[in-house]
Amino acid sequence: MKIKILIVDDDIALSQEISKLLKRHHYDVQTASLLQEATEKLGNFTPEIILLDLKLPDGSGMDFLKKVRNKSPETMILILSGYGTISLTVDAIKNGALNFLTKPVDPDYLIITLEKLIEQKQLHHRLLVQELEIADRRKMVMGNSKKMKTLLEKCKTAATLDTTILLTGETGTGKQLLAHYIHQNSKRSHYPIVYVNCANLSEQLLESELFGHEKGAFTGAHRQKLGRVELAKKGTLFLDEIGEISLNLQSKLLHFIEYGEFQRLGGNQNLHSDARIICASNRDLEDEVKKGNFREDLFYRVNVINLTIAPLRERREDIPVLIQYFVSKFGQELGKPHCHISDLVVEKLCQYNWPGNVRELQNSIERAMVFCKTQQLTENDFQFFNVRPISQTDKIFKPQSLKKAIDDFKKEFIHKLLEENGGNQTKVARILEIQRTYLNRLLRELNTESS
Ligand SMILES: Nc1ncnc2c1ncn2[C@@H]1O[C@H](COP(=O)(O)OP(=O)(O)OP(=O)(O)O)[C@@H](O)[C@H]1O
Ligand SMILES: [Mg+2]
Repeated sequence: MKIKILIVDDDIALSQEISKLLKRHHYDVQTASLLQEATEKLGNFTPEIILLDLKLPDGSGMDFLKKVRNKSPETMILILSGYGTISLTVDAIKNGALNFLTKPVDPDYLIITLEKLIEQKQLHHRLLVQELEIADRRKMVMGNSKKMKTLLEKCKTAATLDTTILLTGETGTGKQLLAHYIHQNSKRSHYPIVYVNCANLSEQLLESELFGHEKGAFTGAHRQKLGRVELAKKGTLFLDEIGEISLNLQSKLLHFIEYGEFQRLGGNQNLHSDARIICASNRDLEDEVKKGNFREDLFYRVNVINLTIAPLRERREDIPVLIQYFVSKFGQELGKPHCHISDLVVEKLCQYNWPGNVRELQNSIERAMVFCKTQQLTENDFQFFNVRPISQTDKIFKPQSLKKAIDDFKKEFIHKLLEENGGNQTKVARILEIQRTYLNRLLRELNTESS
């Protein structure tokens, strides 16, 4: 996408000359010889850079400068300074102009100044994005099962396209990791991948995260803010937990996916971004469509390529590889590089069902290695060997009513799941495939009955 420059000067010959020069350097240029015209272009052309003369027939460039700074502080302003306007130019810089050029404008100097400015801006932009990025580029996608190999091949093919991708899979299967893998294997990898979790924010905040807001759009919007769709320009936008988006925002997202066009909250300009979209969901979106919670048209738009990651229990061949990978990774991180795990324990871990998938496996290994006193991980270092299969059956085998046995099992099972998911009831309800409110009631009942 070309960078847009607006030249505001009543010297039409000069404007034309600069305009031609800039167009030759592949900028998108428009001119205005009056402030009124410039103000209109601000709205419909939305320049990224303005070259501004300070003395115009219908008013002072300084007022215009202040207006632009106030309305869209991201816009970069360079002053075109004529003879006798030096002190004015200094004032303009104090008011937020970035630099000045003296007339007549030297073409080489102009081009270099612009390039420097843009470079600085991009650097700033990248730093901003890095803060947002939760990518850990050193992370590798492990797995040599047939399922995983096929999936990774598909990811590589999908990476070469700009099509929207939907990643589905149970919690902890690696959706986020794969989103990064796809981005890294795409031609967009030199640009950012920007993350948005659609589950954690209120509708208004999510909209402002996604599309940005103008100053004063809502209480607390003290300044203009860029949306993540903008920060993801030329790169990838990763929309996690897409199933949680409200119907109202779904329609705005659909419009963006279809036309690459959006408006900031409180704004009325149509802005553009060419970000490639990857979505993830651990809900069955087709089901959500049936229930009326998810727009069907949006579903078809995001589901152009659907990649599903199998739960770990359906690709057990990956377990030993993952174990070795995590043992060596945490060995490095925890300063226990010689810590290892016996084949017998690996075998046992392969039989376990891993409801929290790779995340649970990773956490278990980390926990075991933190507490392990020797160089070798044993069964005792993995809590669930002791807790789940053995103690539960023990309890069930006690002579007691069937109801009590079932309740005991339920209680222990749910508590364990909660523990593994950091107490996140929404997540646990999803794993259990029950409503969150029902989980809540269940917990209350179980806790009062059996204690
Ligand atoms: N194949 C894999 N190789 C290495 N690490 C993996 C693999 N799959 C998952 N992980 C690790 O497991 C953890 C969970 O993965 P991730 O966050 O991508 O899961 P998710 O599917 O997004 O889960 P959720 O639905 O709960 O958000 C991460 O730390 C990730 O790096
Ligand atoms: Mg995730």
